[in-house]
Amino acid sequence: LDPGVTFQLMMAVGTAVIGSLQFGYNTGVINAPQKIIEGFLNDTWNNRYSEPIPATSLTTLWSISVAIFSVGGIFGSFSVGLFVNRLGRRNSMLIANVLAFIAAGFMGFSKLAVSWEMLIIGRFIVGLYSGLSTGFVPMYVGEIAPTSLRGALGTLHQLGIVIGILMAQVFGMESIMGNSTMWPFLLGLTFIPAVLQCILLPFCPESPRFLLINCNEELKAREVLEKLRGTEEVGADMQEMKEEARQMMREKKVTILELFRSPLYRQPIFIAIMLQLSQQLSGINAVFYYSTRIFEKAGVSQPVYATIGAGVVNTAFTVVSLFIVERAGRRSLHLTGLLGMAFSAVLMTVAMALLDQLPWMSYVSIVAIFSFVAFFEIGPGPIPWFIVAELFSQGPRPSAFAVAGFSNWSANFIVGMTFQYVEQLCGPYVFIIFTVLLLGFFIFTYFMVPETKGRSFDEIAAGFRHDAGEAGEKYAPDEMNNLGGADSQL
Ligand code: GLC
Repeated sequence: LDPGVTFQLMMAVGTAVIGSLQFGYNTGVINAPQKIIEGFLNDTWNNRYSEPIPATSLTTLWSISVAIFSVGGIFGSFSVGLFVNRLGRRNSMLIANVLAFIAAGFMGFSKLAVSWEMLIIGRFIVGLYSGLSTGFVPMYVGEIAPTSLRGALGTLHQLGIVIGILMAQVFGMESIMGNSTMWPFLLGLTFIPAVLQCILLPFCPESPRFLLINCNEELKAREVLEKLRGTEEVGADMQEMKEEARQMMREKKVTILELFRSPLYRQPIFIAIMLQLSQQLSGINAVFYYSTRIFEKAGVSQPVYATIGAGVVNTAFTVVSLFIVERAGRRSLHLTGLLGMAFSAVLMTVAMALLDQLPWMSYVSIVAIFSFVAFFEIGPGPIPWFIVAELFSQGPRPSAFAVAGFSNWSANFIVGMTFQYVEQLCGPYVFIIFTVLLLGFFIFTYFMVPETKGRSFDEIAAGFRHDAGEAGEKYAPDEMNNLGGADSQL
């Protein structure tokens, strides 16, 4: 075990990633009980208009119920910057739970109220919460983690997500809660992790970077750091944070617009956005929202079990990534993952296309989906989330998370909303679209994404300043020369 892994640190990270668990749970929860909840939509329709719901309206209502979650995510993630600098990282996470409670209420009572509107509103609100979490959690974890563990601890955000998905899949089985009486409870269950997080967060420290750099509370920052690191020797960490603070005096607060205008940030924000897009446009959520239907179409006889299988593979490979990310690095894992997913998507296409002639192709499609998911978790799952914290220093970080989260959730929305329609159009060839996108992102990553493993935030930022200096000599020549010098000390 790394000596940096202290009880205080794990307690803080563990509590934070309850937010990730919530995000995952609500991502996975509508997959298995699709038919049951469609039954509810039908009953509600019947109740109001005294006729069964037309098939197209059903597809639309269902797609909205699924995808409105990501609309919430878009708004939530974009608002991250409004909270983290005013309230601090920890208190932002605490307050967000209000949303989880409200959402649980709406979803849990929608059946009782015979209202699919309540279901949709609840999904939207829990999306807001999840969007905030995808900023708050990786930011907090990235800021409290020691440099040597930033990737591994950052991957815990993804681990929280995938465990949430798996729990939702298991609870969603018909014999547990995926049936017509229990499904409201299945959705309402999201209030339990919220209670747990509200109890535990007050015992977790504020991010020492926030205390030092944003609040100028040097003593408090040192105190927290000593607890997190389990030693009084935190001089090097303090030094590094002060260096970042010194840089920040010059940077001041960086707005979203400035992220795009300044040559210092243009390159890292472009990379951050593309990595988020590579994660979502890989098609992963076509699987996590609709796998039960996909397996059904692929001729699998027990689609719900295959879905749970995908959840298990998903979790297992996130753990694999957790253990290798600090050795293999971010870049190579992301590349491996994208390429492996592209191959799996081709395999899936072949399996679907040949199903009519060869019934055993249904097994091949299971293998294809499982390997698609496994490769996803090797790199494209965890890395885009935590790399945002690494690509930016304290000043631009909140805005960067807002932009990255916004990109991620928008792409998530597009896939969630359109997949069923595109699938109706393309039939077995729907995964070809993802293959093409995956290969494009592979090429991008290969040429554009730097390795961030083992480098301090300040070193990474200096690397980008150096690049920007070479490209934009006109921008601020003096400063660039200075920083170019700092970079060469690496
Ligand atoms: C990532 C994605 C999320 C997806 C999950 C699957 O966290 O952001 O949208 O559902 O991985 O494991």
